Amino acid sequence: MNDFREEEVLGKAYDGRLMRRLLGYARPHSGIILVCVALLALLAGVDLARPYLLKVAIDNYLSPPGGAGGGGASLRSLWPLALLYLAILLVGMGLNYLQTVLLQRTGQEIIFRLRQEVFEHLQRASLSYFDRNPVGRLVTRVANDTESLNEMYTSVLVNLFRDLFIIMGVVAVMFRMNAKLALVSLAVMPLVAWISVVYSNRARAAWREVRVRLARINATLAENIAGMRLVQVFMREAEQAREFEAIDRSYLDASMRQLRVFAVFRPALDLLSSSTLALVIWYGGGRALSGSLTLGVLFAFTSYIQQLFRPILELAEKFNIMQQAMASSERIFQLLDTPAEVADPAVPQPLPRARGEVEFRDVWFAYQGQEWVLRGVSFKVQPGQTVAFVGHTGAGKTSILSLVPRFYDVRSGAVLVDGVDVRAVSQGELRRRMGLVAQDVFLFTGDVASNIRLNEPGIGDDAVVRAAVATKADSFIRRLPRGYAEPVAERGATLSSGQRQLLALARALAFDPAVLLLDEATANIDSETEALIQGALRELVRGRTTLVVAHRLSTIQHADQIIVLHKGRIREQGTHRELVARRGLYHKLWRLQFEDDAGALAPTPTPTPAPTPKTG
Ligand SMILES: Nc1ncnc2c1ncn2[C@@H]1O[C@H](COP(=O)(O)OP(=O)(O)OP(=O)(O)O)[C@@H](O)[C@H]1O
Ligand SMILES: [Mg+2]
Repeated sequence: MNDFREEEVLGKAYDGRLMRRLLGYARPHSGIILVCVALLALLAGVDLARPYLLKVAIDNYLSPPGGAGGGGASLRSLWPLALLYLAILLVGMGLNYLQTVLLQRTGQEIIFRLRQEVFEHLQRASLSYFDRNPVGRLVTRVANDTESLNEMYTSVLVNLFRDLFIIMGVVAVMFRMNAKLALVSLAVMPLVAWISVVYSNRARAAWREVRVRLARINATLAENIAGMRLVQVFMREAEQAREFEAIDRSYLDASMRQLRVFAVFRPALDLLSSSTLALVIWYGGGRALSGSLTLGVLFAFTSYIQQLFRPILELAEKFNIMQQAMASSERIFQLLDTPAEVADPAVPQPLPRARGEVEFRDVWFAYQGQEWVLRGVSFKVQPGQTVAFVGHTGAGKTSILSLVPRFYDVRSGAVLVDGVDVRAVSQGELRRRMGLVAQDVFLFTGDVASNIRLNEPGIGDDAVVRAAVATKADSFIRRLPRGYAEPVAERGATLSSGQRQLLALARALAFDPAVLLLDEATANIDSETEALIQGALRELVRGRTTLVVAHRLSTIQHADQIIVLHKGRIREQGTHRELVARRGLYHKLWRLQFEDDAGALAPTPTPTPAPTPKTG
């Protein structure tokens, strides 16, 4: 459907360019990683020593006297060997513990740093980036993609050495013990290699399918849970379930395909390893009977053959991990390499002392291509003034507000704050003097107070309360069971939209900005809350420059200037009185609303005089 669901496209399992960069992240830990490799070499030694010790025990102590081995010693003399075996087992355990802890810790630390880097990069990204990339995708980047890299660092890269040590060691020991038997043991290896390659290819395709479909399930699930209200009220349950079932079933099918591939491969390899064992026992057994081979060697060979097959069995799995890691790192690096479209200038100009002057000079703006949202907009707001923007939906009101803190860059013209082009100063300094109450209020998980102060240590508890009192949010907050400590659920779902707006106003006041950007919510609010919000606004705009987008025109009658936008252009401009007198678009909008209000059952709280038709 969209690429959000289909993005699990996998490429190759090894990419030198990506790998070099990934190894770069491991470089600060290279000391520890070297230690891990050394530990793994020791562990491989332990693995190799165990069958060998048993061989010595069998040959020297357990074989009947006169047998092929030197045998015949008493069982009591076996003790030192048994203790050595135990010691080796314990040492192996210890090494394994140390190695696992060190390696996992290193892997987690690398991933921790990467996650941090991705998160901080996301924070710096321009808003246009978030317009293009759905939340789900970005969350996957930070959470899952980094985790699949962890797996690569810990279970593939370093363990590769262990497998290598084991394979080389086993082959060497085998040849040292008995070259002929070693050749017999390795006879099936070409076949094993061929089967592994075939399997890897099949498994990769099947596995890729599984991943793609799993991603689709996740996306559909997330969408349906987020949109549950809609699903339930429009009774789309059956339809959504059907859609989900189709996606779910295709996942099931893919999983089954993967299973079938594996179900053939695993027994095939088992068969080969068993055949090898049988071959060795048959061949070696004959030799043993004839006395040219000891039982101990035969035993050791059976163990070594199993050790040899284990890395091969795991090969395919490691291949998958590598492939996933390459795909993940490609996506992560792509994100990290996307420069912010809105970036600070190399040498930011200092902003003069905050007076709160805002000016638009012939601003042309489009979110994409030639779809102009603002066409030559010019206006100037004097410090402390309130300017209101009105206009039809989609006229460009919110866009104007977005340009002041430089969420986006203008295409031509300029936005000036206190006389300086916003592109010439650092974004941090610019935004420090702005407060924003967005059209859809956002609340973080936490409590009421933390949503007002937003972790700003400079805003103490009394400042929080003062802001809430001034913006009339205090009374509803106190009615909450736990007052200012009342937990706020994700996105503020437990508060009404009016309450959320009051909170947002308190937040803006707490930060005491020189320039206030208010985007009035379109949602319907009861008259009482509206009156509250009106009162809060009056408090808020006092003494600071305010750009307010108003949907309820009653809000803005006292604005110093009203700008009427129409399709990205300024159509009318003036005070309420002047604009009503002009009998243009504003007058029309106002009349419409007035008639609406007059027609409503409840009387309007704001005494708005009926527009008196004037001539001229
Ligand atoms: N992030 C975006 N990416 C692309 N286009 C956008 C984006 N935001 C808004 N637009 C488009 O820009 C135009 C102006 O949108 P804007 O949000 O400024 O309107 P508005 O006047 O605030 O409307 P409303 O009264 O409904 O809030 C619309 O045509 C809209 O489709
Ligand atoms: Mg808007």
